[in-house]
Amino acid sequence: MAEPSVIPWWRDAVFYQIYPRSFQDMNGDGVGDLAGIIRRLDYLSWLGVDALWLTPINESPDDDFGYDVSNYYGVNAVLGDLETLDRLLQAARQCGIRIILDIVPNHTSDRHPWFVDARRARSSAHRDWYVWADPKPDGSPPNNWRSGFGGTVWALDAATGQYYLHQFLPSQPDLNWWNPDVRDEFDRILRFWFDRGVAGFRIDTANKLVKDAQLRDNLPLGPTEHPMERRLGQRPVWSSNRPEVHDIWRRWRAVCREYDPERVLVGETWLFDLETVASYYGDDDELQLNFNFPFVYADFTASALREVVERTEAAFASNHWPAWTASNHDVSRFPTRWCAGDTRRASMALVMLLTLRGTPFLYYGDELAMADVAVPPDRTADPLAHRLPGQFRGRDPERTPMLWERGPGAGFTAPGAEPWLPFGDSVLSVESQRDDPGSPLRLCRDLIKLRRLSGDLRSGDFASLDTPDGVWAYRRGARTVVVLNFRDEEVAVPGLSGRVLIASNRGHDGADVPGVLRLGPGEGAVLVSGGR
Ligand code: GLC
Repeated sequence: MAEPSVIPWWRDAVFYQIYPRSFQDMNGDGVGDLAGIIRRLDYLSWLGVDALWLTPINESPDDDFGYDVSNYYGVNAVLGDLETLDRLLQAARQCGIRIILDIVPNHTSDRHPWFVDARRARSSAHRDWYVWADPKPDGSPPNNWRSGFGGTVWALDAATGQYYLHQFLPSQPDLNWWNPDVRDEFDRILRFWFDRGVAGFRIDTANKLVKDAQLRDNLPLGPTEHPMERRLGQRPVWSSNRPEVHDIWRRWRAVCREYDPERVLVGETWLFDLETVASYYGDDDELQLNFNFPFVYADFTASALREVVERTEAAFASNHWPAWTASNHDVSRFPTRWCAGDTRRASMALVMLLTLRGTPFLYYGDELAMADVAVPPDRTADPLAHRLPGQFRGRDPERTPMLWERGPGAGFTAPGAEPWLPFGDSVLSVESQRDDPGSPLRLCRDLIKLRRLSGDLRSGDFASLDTPDGVWAYRRGARTVVVLNFRDEEVAVPGLSGRVLIASNRGHDGADVPGVLRLGPGEGAVLVSGGR
């Protein structure tokens, strides 16, 4: 397929992921809401982001905080209502900010009326909307598939004598994507939200929708799996990543093309083989962006990050566009995971995230270098932490409320209200960083501004440069060079001349580079070569 003649908006965009429960609470119940996002649009405009991704806002009993949908056409009352969403879309449009929602097509809540009907009887109209199978002769589950949330994927429905499949919680039954009625229904769901002005979707677990029709046993682990994949204890060759899933994405992409501008689809491709990630782009006829988990889980070293980025560049075809994330709602925040709380290194990570070739996704709080919060056991909210006690730290530490200001309520909720997750004891806040020119927040904002002004950073090609060990430097486009010092001591990087545009140590902004660039430990800089 030919390259589009006009660059689609999402290629040039900086996305900002919001976990709505934790962004801004307007009604004092300790849980963030859609009205709160409206209130903070002026901040988001000031920061300069182009698009928001909201984690699920559909009606849900919140067993998995929205990833268990009970009505795809409605809004969770805890967060607001459709009318508020419409107001948010309109107000964001006025600020030039687009909004994508999260869609969860792999599974529903067990309280969704489809599943309530499905489990009523084997003859129910919606029975075949889900994946059912008979027990083995000894009564055990139909096959050996394991759930990412622990144990078997099968739950016995005693009343009808069959097992249903759930790749996550038992209260998240998987839909049967072989059923054409399921496919038709999701086309309607897409159009319902696109017609309201939603700019696209992030697709939950995009590689898992189609399962082997014969439900064959998964294979044992081999020697090559990534440590994150080994956690499942098997190779999910029959339960994940089936070739037929690509038919769904081509079909959804065709729906996106009915709209102008075309709507965007972002896949949660939790995969560790970059060729397979690349396959989700198709021939630019499937998902336009796909998350890169090998990057998320790479060590924070020059060699590991360089290797993943170079492998990505090699695996992707010329009509595939990378997406980069450092944090999200399922993984420890990067200032903790990568930088052990060192704000200087976290600032360098922001330089990297916002200068790679591809679309960056910030997670709320990244711009402050906000760290994980230790959540005491009696405040645990994540169902996974309850389900796998002792084995899994849970995802609450990366989901705590945004820190807008110091003091009771942190600007997030009413001063006397109890936030749904604790604030922790961090002293970071938007208020304290906004006017501090050396802060991560100001660095992030200036990097976003620089990206907007720089054709090299937005769309220039990428090539790593030769550098001393522990340093990673790459050229973007004709004249822009990014240098990142991962070492614990100062380095002198030869062969560079020009001018510093932005350095994570802001004292170096604008400095001349006379053939050698000096960077302190954990510092990064963006240069323009060729002098003034
Ligand atoms: C995705 C979501 C995660 C959720 C899971 C099940 O991985 O990001 O938060 O628990 O899917 O829907």
